[in-house]
Amino acid sequence: MSAENIKEVVKEKYGQAALRVIKGGSSCCGAAPTGEVCADPITSNLYDTREASQIPEEALQASLGCGNPTALAELKPGETVLDLGSGGGIDVLLSAKRVGPSGKAYGLDMTDEMLALARENQRKAGVENVEFLKGEIENIPLPDNSVEVVISNCVINLSVDKDRVLREAFRVLKPGGRLAVSDIVVRGEVPAEIRRNVELWVGCIAGALAESEYRSKLAKAGFEAVSLEPTRIYRVEDAQDQLSSKGVDVDAIAPLVNGKFISAFIRARKPKA
Ligand SMILES: C[S@@+](CC[C@H](N)C(=O)[O-])C[C@H]1O[C@@H](n2cnc3c(N)ncnc32)[C@H](O)[C@@H]1O
Repeated sequence: MSAENIKEVVKEKYGQAALRVIKGGSSCCGAAPTGEVCADPITSNLYDTREASQIPEEALQASLGCGNPTALAELKPGETVLDLGSGGGIDVLLSAKRVGPSGKAYGLDMTDEMLALARENQRKAGVENVEFLKGEIENIPLPDNSVEVVISNCVINLSVDKDRVLREAFRVLKPGGRLAVSDIVVRGEVPAEIRRNVELWVGCIAGALAESEYRSKLAKAGFEAVSLEPTRIYRVEDAQDQLSSKGVDVDAIAPLVNGKFISAFIRARKPKA
């Protein structure tokens, strides 16, 4: 599949996810949710009750992330934050609360339905220091050196040009600015065929980088102080139902997969000079 085709598939998938939430259902990182609840081990229970109480229910229902970058990014009042692939807007709205009225939170997404959902969630939340931009994370529609923090939640793994995304994040960050990203990462060797099967289950891990690749791509883009902290470790049982329904022999692949797909919090800094 060409890069353009992959982007269209991603757009279609997340457009559908946004429409499900608009119709009162739930979104889910990997497979379609069963009933109204997403029991996806990647997406569920990422936000605590205090955070959930600060945002509209629909923003929480639309969560498709694999971490909670806002909680870990140490945002300060007055800062400008950009969320790459902002989806239904949950992390943008939480960031806006943290940076306060003297700060600003931008969300960037390429999917119209997601942008519509995010803007509706902003209206319901009644926050004004927020702006949702339409565009691609490979070509960020903001000037050089314009934000203090770039966050992202389970999106960079979906990009077919991760080097370009990281270069763009570096460009828009002010000197000394921070990258604080939640993403799915692969640890160790996973045979290609098995990786493809697991990827069928969780759309969110399609294109996940190995830990060492992530580090070297960040360094190549110019970042320093790179760190990668596991936040969840997945076992094949997490995908038991979905894999079995696709005819995968779960017991046979377990030893090759267990513990190798993780959610991680990735930090890096643009040098001050
Ligand atoms: C897995 S969802 C995550 C949404 C949100 N970060 C969250 O935590 O709920 C991925 C989102 O990224 C957007 N997206 C994926 N690839 C993108 C790209 N190349 N440029 C802009 N947005 C993209 C999709 O439209 C979708 O809204």
